[in-house]
Amino acid sequence: MVHLAPWNVAESNFPHESELEQQLTFLLKYAILAPSSHNSQPWKFSVESNDLAIFPDFSRSLPVVDPYHRELFISLGCALENLLVAADHFGFKTAVDYLPEGEEAGPAARVSCKPGKEPFSRSLFHSIPRRHTNRLRYGPISIEKELLDQLIDCRRENDLMLEIVVGQELKSQVGELIIQADQKQFSNKGFREELAEWLRPNIGKVVDGLPGYTQGVSTLPSLFSSMFVRGLNIAKGQMNKDRKLVDNSPALTVIFSKENDTESWLKVGQFYERLALLATNIGIVQAPMNQPVEIPELADELADLLGRKGRPQMLFRMGHAKPAQPIPRRPLEEVLI
Ligand SMILES: Cc1cc2nc3c(=O)[nH]c(=O)nc-3n(C[C@H](O)[C@H](O)[C@H](O)COP(=O)(O)O)c2cc1C
Repeated sequence: MVHLAPWNVAESNFPHESELEQQLTFLLKYAILAPSSHNSQPWKFSVESNDLAIFPDFSRSLPVVDPYHRELFISLGCALENLLVAADHFGFKTAVDYLPEGEEAGPAARVSCKPGKEPFSRSLFHSIPRRHTNRLRYGPISIEKELLDQLIDCRRENDLMLEIVVGQELKSQVGELIIQADQKQFSNKGFREELAEWLRPNIGKVVDGLPGYTQGVSTLPSLFSSMFVRGLNIAKGQMNKDRKLVDNSPALTVIFSKENDTESWLKVGQFYERLALLATNIGIVQAPMNQPVEIPELADELADLLGRKGRPQMLFRMGHAKPAQPIPRRPLEEVLI
């Protein structure tokens, strides 16, 4: 069976009577449920007295699609946000040190956690095990303005911007960039080979990567997805599929950052995960379509199209659909240093 056990984390198992280190280790059960590009889960964690640290695992990087580790650090930011939401929920006061200096091969972030804060049940916490990337075709119902405003309001970082595109014409123009990116990426053998490395069957001992069911592929064909993607130029099929997905999505959302550096990527990840948790909370599903953002010249075109000065970092569609299935995670023991 694919490894879904980490999704069954239960709040009631928090070790209230145990040592601080065990309590902090428990928080990591929520961090590992974060999204990551290709479900690569490129993270490692350490726990030392009051501190939790999150490290990049470059052995899980994606050199073709993500040569500068931009998405790798966004993924770490997502895990960091889950960690902070969980820490807050269990009554820890936290302070984050991004890219702490003077530590060789150092962490992406170090989080000091002090117990004793009044436990605060932010509803985002309960969305952590319910949030999933939803790649289904969305229904035609638009998202109410009041809900869009709630999403806009959850931005905390001054250096990040959010644009939610709901107008049909502009959505279609953004969609055009997604299609162009599909054409470029899926015609590139190197891109397909890298993606194929992360495609997984629906059965067997799967702890990472993308099982076929994430793309609606049933069990028997999922055994051959990797071979299929590696060997065939499927650009046309992907473009047609994505065009329909965009046309049916009531909103396309873009996160921009002023700077394009490691700390910004971590903060983009935090913001994206907060949006995804809030969306889950208010009954909205979402799925990244980051293709144009992964190709610098198309990222520039996207910024021009939306009249923004910053660098687009995450592009995702939002809407309404049946719930998506959870996908595998590595057991926590595998990512603890
Ligand atoms: C930085 C980043 C980029 C992503 N880009 C895409 C994308 O372009 N297309 C896509 O279908 N999913 C994308 N995803 C979603 C991941 O594939 C997904 O998070 C991962 O498979 C884990 O699944 P889950 O989110 O359902 O837990 C991205 C996620 C992150 C964090």
